[in-house]
Amino acid sequence: MSATAPRRLENLQTDKGKVPVYATGIIDQPWDDYGEEDHATWAVLYERQRDVLKGRACDEFLAAQDAMGMSPDRIPKFAELNEVLSKATGWTLIGVEGLLPELDFFDHLANRRFPVTWWIRRPDQVDYIEEPDLFHDLFGHVPLLMIPVFADYMEAYGRGGVKAHAIGPDALQNLTRLYWYTVEFGLIRQQDGLRIYGSGIVSSKGESIHCLESDAPNRIGFDLERIMRTRYRIDTFQKTYFVIDGFEQLMEATGPDFTPIYGKLETLESIPAGTVLESDRVFHRGTGEGWETGGDV
Ligand code: PHE
Ligand code: FE
Repeated sequence: MSATAPRRLENLQTDKGKVPVYATGIIDQPWDDYGEEDHATWAVLYERQRDVLKGRACDEFLAAQDAMGMSPDRIPKFAELNEVLSKATGWTLIGVEGLLPELDFFDHLANRRFPVTWWIRRPDQVDYIEEPDLFHDLFGHVPLLMIPVFADYMEAYGRGGVKAHAIGPDALQNLTRLYWYTVEFGLIRQQDGLRIYGSGIVSSKGESIHCLESDAPNRIGFDLERIMRTRYRIDTFQKTYFVIDGFEQLMEATGPDFTPIYGKLETLESIPAGTVLESDRVFHRGTGEGWETGGDV
């Protein structure tokens, strides 16, 4: 039995499709309310992804996940993870109902609080769910917060978000693309080849294989302004993945004030999700097999 239906308030129709709106308050993880079915869903997903990610996720992600003490046995308790995480990098997990309004989200990140959706998907959603749940947030995002340079990046991103929000919707869109192509769908170059660090990938079996092994998508070197101009897919695998050389590169590239960059990008066209530019550092040029036309956001 599962006792854990999400408490959604309503669905909002936006230019990114239907977006669920949740209460914005912080809640204690109602751990005792998880049913056998919820713990079983966690176990199935945890074991399956750990298996898929061996040799695919970057070593730092896998080591961080081990260090956090997550296990397939039961849904982790936020309070227990917080003891480890706060010592490592000063981050705190907070329980939320689901996706937050952008400014609330940025404010939490800027203060080293990471919102984690408390409920887990239903068993029929193990392969795909259209919104973040506990598995995506906890398994996908939280291990990276154990890595000092990435932990700093996330805080800086939150502060950058507060600023971009004040500048306007175009700046916010540029910054959201950066989040998408790094935090959610980023690849990283390791000694022995390309590996995954993006949370949207590591929480998906299909995309974990697709992003590295399929000939269809482009794999292109990280380029800040290029990424900020690039539209993306929310309902299919990505057409393009961007590759960083290391987490330090993320920190360095995003150190400068973005205000002048936002101004410059206002005058430039956005780039479709699957386009390869002359100036790109191409690791792999996608065949485009199976791509749907249209639908980039
Ligand atoms: N440097 C960015 C700004 O001035 C903030 C930022 C840091 C954004 C890290 C993303 C990641 O807005
Ligand atoms: Fe996410």
